[in-house]
This record gives sequence, C-alpha cells and structure tokens, in this order.
Amino acid sequence: MAESAELILDGKSISLPVIEGTENEKAFDIGKLRDQTGYVTLDSGYKNTGATKSAITFLDGEEGILRYRGYPIDQLAEKSNFLEVAYLLIYGSLPTQTELDTFAHQITNHTLVHEDVRKIFDGFPSTAHPMGILSSLICSLTAFYPKSLDPNQSPEETNLNIFRLIAKISTIAAWSYKNSVGHPLNYPRNDLDYCSNFLYMMFAFPTEKYEINPVVVSALNKLLILHADHEQNCSTSTVRLVGSANASLYGSVSAGVNALWGPLHGGANQEVMEMLEAIQQDGGNTQKWVDKAKDKDDSFRLMGFGHRVYKNFDPRAKIIKKAADDVLKALGIDDPLLKIAQELEQAALTDPYFVERKLYPNVDFYSGIIYRAIGIPTEMFTVLFAMGRLPGWIAQWKEMRENKEPIGRPRQIYTGELERDYVGIEQR
Ligand code: MLT
Repeated sequence: MAESAELILDGKSISLPVIEGTENEKAFDIGKLRDQTGYVTLDSGYKNTGATKSAITFLDGEEGILRYRGYPIDQLAEKSNFLEVAYLLIYGSLPTQTELDTFAHQITNHTLVHEDVRKIFDGFPSTAHPMGILSSLICSLTAFYPKSLDPNQSPEETNLNIFRLIAKISTIAAWSYKNSVGHPLNYPRNDLDYCSNFLYMMFAFPTEKYEINPVVVSALNKLLILHADHEQNCSTSTVRLVGSANASLYGSVSAGVNALWGPLHGGANQEVMEMLEAIQQDGGNTQKWVDKAKDKDDSFRLMGFGHRVYKNFDPRAKIIKKAADDVLKALGIDDPLLKIAQELEQAALTDPYFVERKLYPNVDFYSGIIYRAIGIPTEMFTVLFAMGRLPGWIAQWKEMRENKEPIGRPRQIYTGELERDYVGIEQR
C-alpha cells in the first residue's frame, strides 16, 4: 500500500499520508492540507469524506456487508436480542450472562419517567408527531438529570445516563402513541423484558388483558437489531457533531432524533407505507405507478429503493423481507400492501430502468410491513427506527468522547458578495 499520495499544486509537491483501516479501507489524511496549501477540500454531502475513525460498525456497500463490532448482522438478527446487541455496540464485546443480566436489570429499573414528564406530555396536542415529542422529551431529561450536562462526568455517571436513555425512550415512545390516540398511559412493568414491556405500554388497555405474543416480540427484537447502527449516517453524524461541542448525551441524541425524522433518512419508512397505501387506494395497479416513477415528467418516485452506500443490495432488507413473510404467516395476516410491495420489488429487480440506477429495496421498504403487522401505526415507524438506532447513537457519541475528538467545524468556499459599504435605507 502506498504510504502517501503526492499532490502537485501551483508547482509545489505536497505529501498526503495514507491511512488504512482494519478492513483495508484507505484515506488520504488531509489534516494539514490548509496549513500547507491554503486549499480546503469540497465534498457536498460528504460522499467521499471520512469524518472520523470508528471501531463500531463496518459496512461494505459494494458487497452488502454489515457488521456490528465484527459480528455479521444476519447472525445477530437470528441469534441475539436487542439489549445484547445494544451492549455489544456500546461496550465493544458480547456480554457474559452476568453482564447482560446487570445491564438489563439497570434498564428495567429506569423505565419509569418523572411524573413531571407527564405534565410536558399533557402540553402536546394529540396531533403532535411522535418524533417531535420524542426529541423534546429526550432533551428534557437534562432538566431531570442535570449531572448529565457535565462534560467531565465519571464513567459511572455516563453509564447511568445510558441506562436511563435506553430505558426511558421506550416509555416516552409508547406514551407519545397513547397521547396521539387519547388512550390512558400504561406505566412500565418490571416483570417484562424490554420489547415485551414496550408492546405492553403501547397496546395494553384497561378493559382487556394484553397478551404478549412471542412472534411479535421476536419480530420487534429483530427490527430493533437491524436498525441499531449504520456507521456515519446522517443522524449518527449529527449526534457526533453536536456531542463534539461537549453537549450532553441527551442533547446530542435529541438532535439525532430530529435528523432521523427527515423523510430522506429515517422518515422514509413512513413514506414507503404512505406510498403503498396510495397505490392501494388508487386501485392497486402497481405497473401504473412503476411507469409514473420512470416518467421524467412525473414527480412521483418510489420510496424505499436505493441507498447512498449500498450499491447492490441492503443486507438488512433481505433479512426484513423474510421476517415480514414469517410474521404475516405466523399472525395469519394477508396484507394487501405486502402484495403491492412484492410487485414493486419485482419491478425494481427486473426492470432495466431500476436495475441500471441500482434502485433495489432498502431497509425501509419492508420494515413498515412488519410494523403494520404487529400493530404499530404509520406515524410511529420512525420512532421505532429511533429506538433501534439509539444504542448506535450512544456508542458513537461515547467513542467520539473517549477518543477526545475535536469540535467538528467544517470549512466552506465563500461565493457571496465582495466587500461593499453600508448605505442608509433612503439610498437603497
Ligand atoms: C441508516 O440505516 O441510517 C440508513 O440506511 C441511512 C444511511 O446509512 O445513510
């Protein structure tokens, strides 16, 4: 491997050190470029720019590889559970039984939120989008746990904030749903595991006994695992950037929730479901909508297809597609939207228009089918994405802090007005 690259600029030769990761990814280190040349680099959307070195998640977009701390995503989805994967991402290794029991116990015992949080809830109209409630209430935790603001907090304090956040996101998420439908809130139960407790808080109703369905619990574990981290995506980069200013974990994650809310990021799973429902309401003529997506004069585009990083397929989509089939069969659900989704996928995988543009199903395409099958309303899909992504956000924030990375502050190329003098309003 070359030790460095030579940049010849204005007749001068600059040597740029080459660095290589454990999976043979290579980069030019341009840390001294501006000092040496006066030039900066420009890469809108950071498509070619590494913001950091990280040991948490590896993905290979060409080969469709995704591994958390070296473990392949398909093995974790099949054999692990969400809290075990959260521990792996945050602390770097699979826990022993004692470590996992302690971690789960800590989280179980922090699911209750301060009664004053309910007062904040009561201030939201039932029409409030649950992602707006989630980012607000996560940030409000700084008010209830002010020690979380200390950038020099002890590792024990950081761990306590981690337990609180993983625990309380499930309660806040379930309560945001109950708030939207005007149902009484369900308080967390310490006798249930993480996913069962969330489902209980979401769906239990005073007038009937809520039965925990193991098929649904298993599907939820799998969905949360598949969303748990994805290296430097938009929301994770947001969490790292905000955290690099020594902002608290709660404040940094609240910012990440807002980034994930965007329809081009985590909001895509809600957009996919709304697209499938629109096609169904239009009579279910899938080919008509495929043709609209291909028509350059038509603004309609297929949601849930293609990916910034994966060039051939999203490994998570393959796992979720099988899980969707399994869950619908196990629950005896014949969802007409699944048929529409399968027809769209078939078109995307065979029609040269989509194949040439690498528009194949991504993680958002099938996740909505499962969420819908287990009773999650469409507006809550991105909240479930946030619950899944939380351990990844935490792990990345913690890694950035432990590595003592500098505050993130990108440069720019100015394209505005040259210097000019102020003129009074009467001369304008
Ligand atoms: C994600 O999992 O965050 C999405 O696939 C988006 C991305 O990785 O850029």
